[in-house]
Amino acid sequence: MSAKVLIVMGSDSDLPVMEGAGKLLEEFGIPYRLTVSSAHRTPERTVTIVRDAEESGVEVIIAGAGAAAHLAGVIASHTILPVIGVPVDSSPLRGVDALYSTVQMPPGIPVAAMAVGKAGAKNAAILAAQILGIRDGRIAGALKEYRSKMAREVEEKARRVEKS
Ligand code: RP5
Repeated sequence: MSAKVLIVMGSDSDLPVMEGAGKLLEEFGIPYRLTVSSAHRTPERTVTIVRDAEESGVEVIIAGAGAAAHLAGVIASHTILPVIGVPVDSSPLRGVDALYSTVQMPPGIPVAAMAVGKAGAKNAAILAAQILGIRDGRIAGALKEYRSKMAREVEEKARRVEKS
């Protein structure tokens, strides 16, 4: 089945953060593709990847990058597909630089900015699933089950804490 979500990372060094997005997409049964491209080091490759994604039926793009993280914004400038940005905490500023670069898009080209780091990567996958779930009942069902599972885990934690 062709990928519905494309995950792009600025470097392979972002993988320990961004693999969390892939794992959740797998859990939701959403086909995805994961690759590396840099807005600064490989600008042409970045544009080609976006064009190919559009042509192959990708519906949501997740872009994770650290430092002066222009990847999500540059990708968003080349497509009208929804782009979800994950600021990666890879630089000496621990992701604050990437957060500002991702969240402070000037008006006209939006990026859905997630939290910094691993939490942001997971939320990016969930948001992508929510977008796809508008038209896909199976994905919507997987999201509901995911929420129920989280709620059960909290109840279990509460029980354990109350017992101790
Ligand atoms: C960014 O610079 C990447 O997204 C990564 O977070 C950071 C460092 O990249 P490497 O020097 O590890 O390739 O563009």
